[in-house]
Amino acid sequence: MGWNSWNHFADKVTDADVRAAADAMVTSGMKDAGYIYVNIDDAWEGERDAQGNIHPNSKFPDMKTLADYVHEKGLKLGIYSSPGPKTCGGYEGSYGHEQQDANTYAEWGVDYLKYDLCSYMDIMKLHDSTQDPQRANAMMKSAYAKMHEALVKTHRPILYSICQYGVDSVWEWGASVGANLWRTTDDIRDNYHNMALIGFSQAGLEEYAGPGHWNDPDMLEIGNGGMNADQYRTQMSLWAILAAPLLAGNDLKQMDDLTKSILMNKEVIAVDQDSMGIQGYRAGPPQVWVKPLSGGAKAVAIFNYVTDDEAEPITLQLKQVGFSDPVHARDLWAHKDLGTLSGSYTVTVPQGGVVMLRMWP
Ligand code: GAL
Repeated sequence: MGWNSWNHFADKVTDADVRAAADAMVTSGMKDAGYIYVNIDDAWEGERDAQGNIHPNSKFPDMKTLADYVHEKGLKLGIYSSPGPKTCGGYEGSYGHEQQDANTYAEWGVDYLKYDLCSYMDIMKLHDSTQDPQRANAMMKSAYAKMHEALVKTHRPILYSICQYGVDSVWEWGASVGANLWRTTDDIRDNYHNMALIGFSQAGLEEYAGPGHWNDPDMLEIGNGGMNADQYRTQMSLWAILAAPLLAGNDLKQMDDLTKSILMNKEVIAVDQDSMGIQGYRAGPPQVWVKPLSGGAKAVAIFNYVTDDEAEPITLQLKQVGFSDPVHARDLWAHKDLGTLSGSYTVTVPQGGVVMLRMWP
């Protein structure tokens, strides 16, 4: 859990923005709710010196001082690079400098690396005159494994997030190249259609996630303004059911109360962070999702994935989510105990919205 600069600040991000995010993470209560990583995405990179050492650009005067600032708040710092010569934003990548960059990150005090394929795609084609997809895939895996090994050699624990937009079924091999999380899709955007497409398309990937190695359906858009409250509650709920990384992508220093109530719903966060680390699955139809939790409990999310019809009551059969006897239930957005349910539960879910329950025997 944490924050990443890209969705809101994109290539404009500065040292001051990152410090402000760290400040707000503490003062808003997000840190207490579990958000720990403060991640700088693309556009921090400057030039290499004569020895090949990477330096930040003028927007980031001193990375070590920035890391110290973040650490003093009890938070961790993330950074971004690419296995290619250039990042997606056209900045300096780590190609040919993997160990050197890993060492630099460790010296600065970096705790998290997002490693984004970007221009390495050109290398995969360049070095492969036959255009053999298997060979390209092997090159990609070895580029990711190379940085993993470089990070390990620094002897600093650095979380490893790989980003190659889900190609070549990364969930099948991400853990084998040392990734702690791997992006399963293309970039998220701050609109309901795109978010829902990404989130609901995660059905079936649950068998690949587990403690230490997670599917990453990209960052949160909550608070960025392109969706309504019901739709943002859908993103938070679905990401929690998916045991997905919760990386806020908004401007933390300007959060309204509604945004805070969504990002800091501790009962929903507890579903995401449950100690069993099981990714939930679709029990449909239509969009009923279930996540097994510790102690025999389950989180059940009923989504209303329509945008143009009147919301109508949806009836959930408890058997559909694996309960044959009466269960205790609590509504995690209404923060309300529902008492004991038997047989079924009928509820009207707002359009684009969700009702999320915790059920236990
Ligand atoms: C994209 C990546 C985004 C962001 C961006 C930065 O490839 O998917 O999450 O990191 O590059 O340039």
